[in-house]
This record gives sequence, structure tokens and C-alpha cells, in this order.
Amino acid sequence: MKAVVCERYGPPEVLKYTDVPEPTPKDDEILVKMRAASVTLGDCEVRASRVAGWVIVPLRLALGVMKPRQPILGTEMAGDVVAVGANVRNFAVGDRIFGSTSFGMGAYAQFKAVSKSAPITGIPEGVDYATVVGIPTGGLNGLHFVRKCEVKPGESVLINGAGGSIGSFAVQLAKQRGAEVTAVDRGDKLEMLKGLGADHVIDYQTEDFTASGKHYDVIIDVVGKIRFGPTFEALNEGGRLFLGNPYVPHMIQALTAKRHPNKKVLFQLAGESIDDLDYLKALVASGAIKMSIDRHFPLSDIAAAHRYVEAGHKKGIVVIDIPQED
Ligand SMILES: NC(=O)c1ccc[n+]([C@@H]2O[C@H](COP(=O)([O-])OP(=O)(O)OC[C@H]3O[C@@H](n4cnc5c(N)ncnc54)[C@H](OP(=O)(O)O)[C@@H]3O)[C@@H](O)[C@H]2O)c1
Repeated sequence: MKAVVCERYGPPEVLKYTDVPEPTPKDDEILVKMRAASVTLGDCEVRASRVAGWVIVPLRLALGVMKPRQPILGTEMAGDVVAVGANVRNFAVGDRIFGSTSFGMGAYAQFKAVSKSAPITGIPEGVDYATVVGIPTGGLNGLHFVRKCEVKPGESVLINGAGGSIGSFAVQLAKQRGAEVTAVDRGDKLEMLKGLGADHVIDYQTEDFTASGKHYDVIIDVVGKIRFGPTFEALNEGGRLFLGNPYVPHMIQALTAKRHPNKKVLFQLAGESIDDLDYLKALVASGAIKMSIDRHFPLSDIAAAHRYVEAGHKKGIVVIDIPQED
């Protein structure tokens, strides 16, 4: 089968489109013929092994110390079940599914054997593979951030890094909870963010949201690029600051912020629950959540897709189309 192999951490050029043996599913696995994968900023960070300081140690232990232990990267996937192991009852040949391969990765390939208990679920009737492939990263994290902040109707919520995979979900989920949402991102993403329902938009390249004197009940920093002190100051009494990409200095400052009785700093990695995937896919299928798909790249051109995402050009989801024939 065709796949993209990454034999060392490095720039996008380390990704090689090549032939590898097709996997055989074990008794507890299903074999998925991939239709779509995606490139997230997280995928680029894994490929380059460039993440927030403290995360590097657990990440390298999980993924491979000197080089990726699983050389086929990619975690978001959508495709068709083409074989099931002897112990699989929850999927059948012909099911259309999407989900995350988590630390097993392997989505940049024509086939992937996945555990029957992986965070994967069926694709609703009438919905295509590209529409759902971006739900796991953006949706599960966006939902987790909004839930953890206990966003309530009428509250003011600012989302920093709102125009990406996670932020575009967080904006819509906060709006659904009745919040007044301010979306902060690069200028060329602000029209898209208004289209997703943001009440106010701020271009981070021309305006510092902490300098306006405005205060918020909830601030969600998706990208880890805030100035901690002024951002904490910009919270209302009772406010919550969620660190979606917590760098060490922010975490240390969060400890000192604990002394403040009425403001909270939160950070916690999102889980990957099938119930949450089902909840999110229903919102997408009904049109209550819009998936913002930016561009498609063929699997053979994945290095270009990584360059595009890494350069910050992405507006929403970058979809990888998997070839159906060799
Ligand atoms: N906490 C968790 O559990 C968790 C899980 C998955 C991912 N993450 C991390 O979360 C981060 C975001 O992921 P994502 O997939 O949403 O990335 P993404 O799709 O690339 O979105 C990030 C957005 O932030 C914008 N941005 C960059 N610098 C900014 C700044 N200074 N102020 C405001 N916005 C800025 C980017 O725009 P431009 O680059 O165009 O300027 C982009 O639109 C990644 O670092 C990822 O590793 C965290």
C-alpha cells in the first residue's frame, strides 16, 4: 500500500511517500481503508518534535526517543471498515467510520488496523469523509476547553487562536451555550470567524486584547501565546483562564495566581471519548456546528500540507485525500 513514512524528527521533507506492507488486523482490530486524513498543528509539532518545553519528555517517551517509533504519522482519519478481527462485534465490514488513532497514529496510509475500542464511530448518513475528519482534534479539545470553563449564558468569552482547528469549535460551542464571544486571530481569519458566529473579532497582529481595558468571564488561550499577567488581569471577578497549550512559564505563573480567591487558571488535556465524538458529529450533521474546511492535499503531497499548516496559513481544517488505488 501507499503510505507516508517519517524516519526521523525534522522538517516537512522528512515525510516520504512510499510503498509499505498492508497491515493485517488482529482479533481485536478492524482494518480501515482510509478515505481522508488531516494535518493539524499538533501533527507538525510531533513530526518536528517541537512542543511546549515540559511536554517534550512525555511526548518522546510515548512516540520514540530518537525517532518516531511508529513511522507513519497522522491521527485523524475517516474511511471504510474492510475487515474485522475474530473478536470484533461493534463494527462490520462496510461501516463508514471516523475518529482518532491517538498515539498509534498511522493515518497517513491507505490502510490502518485499529483497535475495536479506539475512539472511532460511524459517519452519519449523507455526511462525507472530509466533513468529519477534523472533528477529533478540534472538536474534542474545543468541547473540553468550553466545558472545563463552565461557560454560561450571557458570559463574555474570549478565545485566543480562534481561527484554527480547536478554536473554530470553541467559538461555536461557546456561542451555543449563549455566551458573547470575542475571537482573536490573524486578520485574514476574522471574516471566517464572524461567519462561525463570533460577536467580536480582534486581529492579534494589530491589537493586544489585554490593552483595551475590557474584561472577560472566560479566556481560552488555545495557542499558548498570551502574556500571562495582563491576561489574568483581563478576567472579571469569578473569571476562568484556560491554558490550552500550557508552557512552563504560564504554569508557574498559574501557581502564583492561585492566591487570587475569585479567579481560576485551568489546564488539563482532553480525553478522547466516543460519546463526545457522537455528540459532536450530531451537531455537525445537523448544521449546528460548521466545519470550516480550508484545503485538500493528496497524500503524495503531504510535505506541502505540513509546510502550509506550519506557516500558519490554515483557516480551519486541512484535509488529506487518500488515493483509493495504487
Ligand atoms: N491542550 C490539549 O489537549 C491540546 C490538544 C491538541 C492540540 N493542542 C495544541 O493546541 C495548539 C492549537 O492547535 P490547533 O490545532 O487549533 O492549531 P491551529 O489550527 O494551527 O490554530 C492555531 C491558531 O492560532 C493562531 N495564532 C498564532 N499565533 C497567535 C497569537 N499570538 N495570538 C492569537 N492567535 C494566534 C494561528 O494563526 P496564524 O498561525 O495564522 O497566525 C491559528 O489560527 C497547538 O499548539 C496544539 O499542539 C493542545
